[in-house]
Amino acid sequence: MTAAFVRTSDHTIAELFLKRWSPRAFSGEVLDKATLFSLFEAARWAPSANNSQPWRFIYALRDSEHWPLFLGLLNENNQRWASNAGALVVLISKTTHVRKGADEATPLRSHALDAGAAWASLAFQAEHEGLRTHAIGGFDRSRAVEVLGIPEGYHVNVAIAVGRQAERSSLPDDLQGREQPNERKPLREIVAEGRFSF
Ligand SMILES: Cc1cc2nc3c(=O)[nH]c(=O)nc-3n(C[C@H](O)[C@H](O)[C@H](O)COP(=O)(O)O)c2cc1C
Repeated sequence: MTAAFVRTSDHTIAELFLKRWSPRAFSGEVLDKATLFSLFEAARWAPSANNSQPWRFIYALRDSEHWPLFLGLLNENNQRWASNAGALVVLISKTTHVRKGADEATPLRSHALDAGAAWASLAFQAEHEGLRTHAIGGFDRSRAVEVLGIPEGYHVNVAIAVGRQAERSSLPDDLQGREQPNERKPLREIVAEGRFSF
């Protein structure tokens, strides 16, 4: 068993939403490119403001020449477990867009929101394919800009570890205790009818 706690919902939802979670124990198997691209394909179909599609994905497959560079971007604590992922992805978003009929680019307020939708699509497609994902905010964004050659006008959102889940026992002792799906706030704390009332 890798997880003792089983998530349940108060309302009926598709199983995929309850099953997805972010483990740290990955198997160390390299992900094949076709599988990784099926995740990007799912992300590609996410909705975005004006269909601007501001998301861009930069990836490294485990054991490729790019892998050490990507892994080196992560904070030490994240490297400890993400080193066993099958691929690492950096998700950036274009902060401006040219509206239909306009000549000049204007700020795209929703670029991060849109990138978030793409990340969620990627994560759920991974779950659908029996893979697991773990988003990582703890990494060096300035260094990512530098070493990944990201030009101005892009925002670095998040790194994402993708791979096959392994047994909790494969983790260092101190990480094993955290290796289970967590809970969520009740709906009454996050949903209001008519007016802000939290
Ligand atoms: C933007 C973002 C940044 C995150 N950064 C980290 C991180 O640096 N290290 C880590 O172990 N988990 C990180 N996580 C994972 C979250 O802690 C996790 O998604 C959250 O606790 C909900 O758990 P679940 O994904 O298992 O449902 C991050 C998640 C997101 C969406």
